[in-house]
Amino acid sequence: MNQLTQAQIDLLLDKAQEARDRSYAPYSKYNVGAALLTADGRVYQGCNIENAGFTSTVCAERTAFFKAVYDGHRAFRAVAVIATGEELGFPCGVCRQVMAEFCDKDFVIITANRDRTKVDVSTFERLLPHSFGPRDLGV
Ligand code: THU
Repeated sequence: MNQLTQAQIDLLLDKAQEARDRSYAPYSKYNVGAALLTADGRVYQGCNIENAGFTSTVCAERTAFFKAVYDGHRAFRAVAVIATGEELGFPCGVCRQVMAEFCDKDFVIITANRDRTKVDVSTFERLLPHSFGPRDLGV
């Protein structure tokens, strides 16, 4: 089982909150930060980066994943996501599909609302059951 300690969860939320300050979101004004824990214990931070051509926007989670994959990481334990909403903001469908490429069923997904009064700890399997991934293509 891929279980995180409360200290690891808190650290990832701290890092995600820090990353949120780097967010570029002049259109939605919805700032998001993410902190991704690699299997070997490194933390990659990401933020959402919006674009005047709205579909060119990238989410905080994918920024963190792509930074880590570029650096050679292919296995991950957890991601924390913190946005500026009063309610929890869960990863979007596109980000979940990116997770499907690199994450096992027990990959931990932590979400928090803006002031961390609400926190949810879930798993990839719960957020994207019956996912389509590398195994479906025999990889
Ligand atoms: N956003 C994220 O960064 N992560 C998500 O999982 C959901 C949405 C960003 C994209 C866009 O900049 C803003 O939130 C509003 O959709």
